[in-house]
Amino acid sequence: MKPDKKKLFTMLIVALSAAIVTGSIMMGLFIPVHGEPNDTDYWSEYVPFDIDSIPVVEAGEDGFRILQLTDLHYVYPHLTKETDKIVETLVKENDPDMIVITGDSVIGPANASYTKHLVKLMDGFGKPWAVVYGNHDAEGKADKFRLGEIYSESEYCLYENGPYNIGGTGNYAVNVTKNGAPFYSLVMMDSNMYVKYDGKKEYGCFTPSQVYWYDWLQQGLIDNGYTRSMMFFHIPFPEYRDAYAAWEQSGFDPAIGSGERREEECNATANPGMFDKILEKGATTHVFVGHDHVNDYIVEYKGVTLGYGVKSSEQYYHDDDKVGGLIIDINGDGSVSLTRKFVKV
Ligand SMILES: [Fe+2]
Repeated sequence: MKPDKKKLFTMLIVALSAAIVTGSIMMGLFIPVHGEPNDTDYWSEYVPFDIDSIPVVEAGEDGFRILQLTDLHYVYPHLTKETDKIVETLVKENDPDMIVITGDSVIGPANASYTKHLVKLMDGFGKPWAVVYGNHDAEGKADKFRLGEIYSESEYCLYENGPYNIGGTGNYAVNVTKNGAPFYSLVMMDSNMYVKYDGKKEYGCFTPSQVYWYDWLQQGLIDNGYTRSMMFFHIPFPEYRDAYAAWEQSGFDPAIGSGERREEECNATANPGMFDKILEKGATTHVFVGHDHVNDYIVEYKGVTLGYGVKSSEQYYHDDDKVGGLIIDINGDGSVSLTRKFVKV
């Protein structure tokens, strides 16, 4: 081989090797990882309701304290330690009986490894905890079933995939008892990721089948003595806008609401009627969401309290004075007190 040809050949080999190495790294980063759905968990309205299939946590004499965290947005490797510190501070200072995370816990290609990180952090508190998916959790390599497998490996996480044949993944309930008797139910739902409306991509909403499932679940709970429930999911439904507008109309009456609306609600235009179903069943007293990072208002509307949590990390867009968590105290007499806790790192 002549020197010129030899040089060209070497360059070609180097370029080819570089392309193979880069390609392999990119494929490793972006090849999706699918978990296994539990395809025996089929739901129809004719499936008998089984109260014993729902996990139970026991309240103390004084009641039951929930810490709501939301939108942690763990993403490699930015601000991980700071986010851990915020969560640890909130748990240490408020000593909740249970922690509920309302979505967008992780974001980016490494969503599985950050879900493992979250499980380790949360299990370290030795308290029951629950989680629902936001629109970002499953945008990385791992799908919701794979993330569900990781949550299911946790010692303290109560997450369940729920029925595979209704909208979303991770629709399930947790019951709270007091002295062994029904006290409150916590309904966890997946408000889905994105929908197309009028040709445009919008943030997600419930599917009609999820509304039917909630109806069936809530009736089953009522029939078994659980007459009050709270719901936790990620994306607000359109009635949040109506609730805020009514509060504004009242001159921001403190008896009706508290907190702030610093951005427009990013909800889907489509409305499958979950709020109407909540009113019809008459059992859900409170709804808590995340998603809109700088909103933390909580407003009573048509007898139901619709609230935002407090964004629990400095990851992604946020306001420095609106980082923390929401304390939800279900008092011994069944009344509910809400307190925002802000944390500076
Ligand atoms: Fe978010």
